[in-house]
Amino acid sequence: MNTEQLKNKAVSFYIETYGCQMNKYDSELVRTILKDSGYEETGSPEDSDIIIINTCAVRDHAEQRAMGRITVFKNWKSMKSGRRLGVIGCVAQVSSEKIIKNYPYVDFIAGPDSYRKLPDMISEHTDGSCIDTLLNSGETYSGIEPTRTGDVTGWLSIARGCNNFCSYCIVPYTRGRERSRSSQDIIKELYSMAQSGTKDVTLLGQNVNSYNDGETNFAGLLSKASGIPGILRVRFLTSHPKDISIELLKVMAENEKICPHLHLPMQAGSDRVLKAMNRGYTIGHYMDIVEKAKTIVPDLTLTTDIIVGFPGESDEDFDGTFNTMKDIKFDDAFTYRFSPREGTKAAKMTNKIPEYIIHERLDSIIALQRDISLLKRKNMMGKKVEVIPETTSKNSNEEWIGKTAGNYPVVFPKNNTRAGEPVDLIITELRGITLRGVQEKEYKEALV
Ligand code: SAM
Ligand code: SF4
Ligand code: F3S
Repeated sequence: MNTEQLKNKAVSFYIETYGCQMNKYDSELVRTILKDSGYEETGSPEDSDIIIINTCAVRDHAEQRAMGRITVFKNWKSMKSGRRLGVIGCVAQVSSEKIIKNYPYVDFIAGPDSYRKLPDMISEHTDGSCIDTLLNSGETYSGIEPTRTGDVTGWLSIARGCNNFCSYCIVPYTRGRERSRSSQDIIKELYSMAQSGTKDVTLLGQNVNSYNDGETNFAGLLSKASGIPGILRVRFLTSHPKDISIELLKVMAENEKICPHLHLPMQAGSDRVLKAMNRGYTIGHYMDIVEKAKTIVPDLTLTTDIIVGFPGESDEDFDGTFNTMKDIKFDDAFTYRFSPREGTKAAKMTNKIPEYIIHERLDSIIALQRDISLLKRKNMMGKKVEVIPETTSKNSNEEWIGKTAGNYPVVFPKNNTRAGEPVDLIITELRGITLRGVQEKEYKEALV
């Protein structure tokens, strides 16, 4: 794909994205970078000249999925000359040698800090190498804004990388050192999101609450973000328990645009396991934060991530996790079995837990959380909630799906309401685990 070809015929690209919201945000950055260089996006891989797979390495399953997609596109590549296949993201960063060896037909490999170089890497005008996995702790993609399509909700990465080195986690190796974007850049991007119609924005970082650009900390950034006209709700992901401050909780409580939702991964309910995980808090400390958060922030929704089967996790350790989940009653929990990641400290630990025990433990916390999640939703029956309609529901063109401030999805009849305009609903029904509601005024009319 040389410059001449680019001039004569728009060269098309297709991106497939796996992994977390930050990877999705990165794919948006890549779209902007490629479009600014004259490439055109297509909606399907078949019509495309270039396919880019943006990969996730957080668990073995995610990595295998990425590798599987590379295999799938081998055939696509062989069907037309000039086609190019690229692998980017977290697997590209940590497994480039494996990719080169096992998938020699891959044309370019770029890590998360190398996306500015993609146009050069794709074109034939490279200086030889089509692999770039240099981590660059200065790269925040300043000056590049994702292309916005007018969606009601939008993501915005405010920081990149992670310094925490939890012993099980590959992210510090795939994304490098933590760095905060400048608050001026973030505010500018928020203004343009508001202009494109975004009402509900989620600020992203692996450790979002340790944000600090040298002038503004996270609580300060949240206050600034919530002052932007047109933005009705500000959310954030993922908070690290060790960095939750009272200042942050107060800002959440005092500012009604900041949604009362904390995603606060607990990971385990045993001090011994938390220490081996290098999480930097004890379960007592975690419970204390939860207590303070529930006291300070009215109607707080609390969600979490849990890992079971960490090396050395005894029955007693697991009981600690189970019982803490039972006590806290999270609104939702993402539960994972431990997956050893090459290069991390935990992957070298020898006291592995047998698979059948991991299965049993996972099944029991999934069942526990299912009951708690159902109960939480049942408790919402008859309550009034404000929901911002986001998209048409999958099951009916006549219904919206939107979220409460506390992050609960709700389905409801459209009846003269518009996407992006908040509606007061009464929760009337639970179908499976989906809440359904009707507009408050219709509910009242039906009562008289
Ligand atoms: N930065 C966030 C934090 O510290 O909580 C989350 C990052 S990670 C992308 C999302 C979740 O994946 C983690 O909270 C953890 O529960 C899970 N995870 C990460 N590494 C894992 C591993 N090796 N095996 C199983 N689960 C893992
Ligand atoms: Fe991984 Fe821990 Fe960083 Fe989260 S805080 S990304 S779990 S190392
Ligand atoms: Fe996966 Fe990388 Fe995100 S490993 S979870 S895509 S930071």
